[in-house]
Amino acid sequence: MSPPPYVAPVVQSTAVFKDDIFKGKVLFCTGGGSGICRGMTEAVMRHGADAVIVGRKLDRLTQSARELSEKTGQTCIPAQADVRKPEQLQEAVAKTIEKFGKIDFVICGAAGNFMAPVSGLSENAFRTVIEIDTIGTYNTIKATLAYLRKTKGAYIHVSATLHYRGTQYQAHVSAAKAAVDALSVVIAVEEGPHGVRSNVIAPGAIADTEGASRLGNQIDTRGFSSALGRIGQIPDVASATVFLFSDVASFISGQVLVVDGAGENVRTSQ
Ligand code: HXC
Repeated sequence: MSPPPYVAPVVQSTAVFKDDIFKGKVLFCTGGGSGICRGMTEAVMRHGADAVIVGRKLDRLTQSARELSEKTGQTCIPAQADVRKPEQLQEAVAKTIEKFGKIDFVICGAAGNFMAPVSGLSENAFRTVIEIDTIGTYNTIKATLAYLRKTKGAYIHVSATLHYRGTQYQAHVSAAKAAVDALSVVIAVEEGPHGVRSNVIAPGAIADTEGASRLGNQIDTRGFSSALGRIGQIPDVASATVFLFSDVASFISGQVLVVDGAGENVRTSQ
């Protein structure tokens, strides 16, 4: 009889890192009000950082900021901005500087998604996702770069694995995230001499996220397979975040860290 298939444990905490590795650091995270980016923010705060979470929905941001502060003992404040609007991002950055005086880490995580075949995708629908994911990342970089140069800080861009092969109904997101990967590498080579690092985390399918629920009717997450035997969890991405922002990653830039358990792309149920 063959042994039961291996299932990788979900390691909920980043306690293998010292508590205070991010003491005195400030994180600016777009999309931090919920899901993966909120989990990334919480993990960084648990190691001593304060944070600003940025998004469109002030109610959700305010509640998340309160909860993150309570859970971690650090300070998190909300900043309402649509990443498609550079002036709103600049205001969010100004609020961050006013409150904390600097920015050390930036997570570019704001994203938009829905399932649609190219034949059912209007020009505006395609453009909307490019504007949120790609141009939103560009706008966030432009608004924060001068501050990261001052602190010799680091970017993490949240991408995906959808564009590594053709993933049906995801042309808009695949194009947008491929561009994010490319942008990150250019930032890494241009800004390395200024002490700024830029990396990408590319999660596979992650349970209990906005992305999973939006795709839920059409993506068969039960059919998702990874070599490590399970679907991803938010702590998997949070741990990668702590590693990449930490000093032990000080020589890692221009890379894509795939967090998918050596998986294949999400499989559609069609
Ligand atoms: C076809 C659609 C559509 C759908 C919207 N559109 N939903 N087209 N099928 N299901 C079209 C609209 O008809 C419109 O085009 C255009 O897209 C813009 O829609 P709006 O609703 O006006 O845009 P907006 O209010 O800005 O909302 C943006 C959004 C929305 C992307 C459409 O879903 C959103 O705000 N999402 C944010 C949260 C989110 O999606 N998070 C998940 C990220 S997951 P027309 O031509 O009619 O004007 C992720 C990871 C992926 O990124 C990896 C998963 C494994």
